[in-house]
Amino acid sequence: MSNGPVVTLDGPAGSGKSSTARAVARRLGFRHLDSGALYRALTLALLESGLAEEEWDGLDEDAMRALDVRLAPRPDGFDVIVGGRVVVEELRSAEVTSRVAHLAGLAPSRASLLSLQRAAGAHGRLVADGRDMGTAVFPDADVKVYLVADLDERARRRLRDEGVDEPTSEDLERQSEAIAGRDLADSEREHSPLRMPDDAHLIDTTRLGFEEQVDAIVALVEGLG
Ligand code: C5P
Repeated sequence: MSNGPVVTLDGPAGSGKSSTARAVARRLGFRHLDSGALYRALTLALLESGLAEEEWDGLDEDAMRALDVRLAPRPDGFDVIVGGRVVVEELRSAEVTSRVAHLAGLAPSRASLLSLQRAAGAHGRLVADGRDMGTAVFPDADVKVYLVADLDERARRRLRDEGVDEPTSEDLERQSEAIAGRDLADSEREHSPLRMPDDAHLIDTTRLGFEEQVDAIVALVEGLG
């Protein structure tokens, strides 16, 4: 059986990667892998373990693996499993969000998740989104996309996701600062920093409608012939 394509979507926080990747995967009948959910799951597992955050830097790859984060395939994607239970909402808590960049900067955490992510793409037909999908995890991907959007627009989208449709200027400022802080940590870290893969298609979604950006990526995949 021949493997199908692997499509990667990378980009900064709030650029619309996960929702776009999910929609592209649905249109193509591929599975969607949200790699950010894996880093969030590892962060959740560490918070639940009670280990103080200052101790995280001392953990090796085996200790990260022992936190028992797994992926279970579904027809359209993967359930993320921590300690035997499927986690969804817990991954988006403020506590996890504010600590995930620290964890993601540690080489053992990245090494422990690499094989999970590669196994998810072993049979192709995958749309994977994150920060290093096209650079480190799937360097041979068939289509690579790098999504960007203005900081203000990304802050508005995050707030909308949280149910705030008419943000005050203070809401926007707070959210923009949080996003910019995470972008800085993700792009300046030593291991697999956020950067655009050399062979990626750059798509600026600031003024694109959601369907337009999905169409553009689906067209790139269909153009593979
Ligand atoms: O995409 P999301 O906001 O859920 O990602 C959470 C965090 O996980 C990012 O800010 C980043 O620190 C980390 N991450 C990463 N590499 C990935 C995906 C996410 O370092 N491929």
